[in-house]
Amino acid sequence: MTTLITNIGELTTNAGAVPDAVGRAAPDATDFVPDAADLCGTLHNAAVLVEGTHIAWVGPADATPEIPGGYEHVDAAGAAVIPGFVDSHSHIVFAGDRATEFEARMAGEPYAAGGIRSTVAATRAASDEQLRHRMRTLAAELYAQGTTTIEIKSGYGLTVADEERIVRIAREITPEVTFLGAHVVPEEYADRPDAYVDLVTGAMLDACAPHSRWIDVFCETGAFTTEQTRRILTAGINHGLTPRLHAAQLGPTDAIPMAIELGAASIDHATHLSDSDIAALAASETVVTLLPGVEFSTRQTYPNARHLIDAGITIALACDTNPGTSYTTSMPLCIALAVREMGMTVSEAIWAATAGGARALRRTDIGIVTPGARADIVLLRAPSRTHLAYRPGVPLVDAVWRAGSRVR
Ligand code: NIG
Ligand code: FE
Repeated sequence: MTTLITNIGELTTNAGAVPDAVGRAAPDATDFVPDAADLCGTLHNAAVLVEGTHIAWVGPADATPEIPGGYEHVDAAGAAVIPGFVDSHSHIVFAGDRATEFEARMAGEPYAAGGIRSTVAATRAASDEQLRHRMRTLAAELYAQGTTTIEIKSGYGLTVADEERIVRIAREITPEVTFLGAHVVPEEYADRPDAYVDLVTGAMLDACAPHSRWIDVFCETGAFTTEQTRRILTAGINHGLTPRLHAAQLGPTDAIPMAIELGAASIDHATHLSDSDIAALAASETVVTLLPGVEFSTRQTYPNARHLIDAGITIALACDTNPGTSYTTSMPLCIALAVREMGMTVSEAIWAATAGGARALRRTDIGIVTPGARADIVLLRAPSRTHLAYRPGVPLVDAVWRAGSRVR
């Protein structure tokens, strides 16, 4: 399938310079490169050619290359185009909901990690087909709102068989699967948490590693200690998985240096970082993934993204779709919150939701609109990406291509 999108008023490439076309030269387009200082690599009056699953050419709208054979022509009519969102943190394989808990929280109850157990009970009772159906429904919501890459974590099964089926079902729709058997200590192990850690690092990891790319732990008061976390992440590494971490969501932690030492791709939540955590993260390859849907839905303090970015930390934005702390699938909402509540500029928030997510997943083929990248493209019903934050709550995603196929 070949698709030519022309008449793009504002194209976000996330590339400081668009390299020459792969396979096709862009006539007279040598000057058509974004300003290197522009984080979003913006081009105006642009066109994008998609061949098969990848982007073949990016250039000026008035100098599109010869295209032999049939192709679909999309006239963007001056609207904005951005890379598909890369949502690097979700928990979309579960059953039940926790609307009652949300309602109580809005009436003043605090959030506590223990709420996870009620979703665990519902998930254990659900069939594979029920879990698959809910996951696919939520994935469809994500795609319809411009997300083209989804990471999915386990963590609502907490038995060998339930965790194995969650990662196996997640793997049906994404290679970005994270084993989170250490989400919380399940009820049946409440008085012997270290025996549960033995299970996670033993039979559960053996069953889940073949379906997973990543290993994660909820390292927090009420979940797992830093020492338990080190054990679990190290076991995962020994099974070929790469660590990422839920940390500093509910309070300060001493886990950050350990996570960096173990090569964590990302620290997620990261609301309560110390100055030395921030300095260590800035000097590391570890991304910080911020999840503003969580603060919105738990009434907790938003992390100070401005401070983290100014310190030199790479930020990703993700929805953290889950029934407890953030039951949204809307990256545009998270962008609007990041701009309004966390001190990010519009460009920083859009970059974090696309290229930043790709960094958090250690991917170089997504989160960008350049020749050779996967054709993950979102056409907005708006003249600029700024409208995503400027018009919160308005459905501005007009068309979505995922690996070259129209998914909306
Ligand atoms: O990312 N923080 C831990 N895990 C989820 C919440 C899980 C739940 O409350 O069900 C999160 O916020
Ligand atoms: Fe999470």
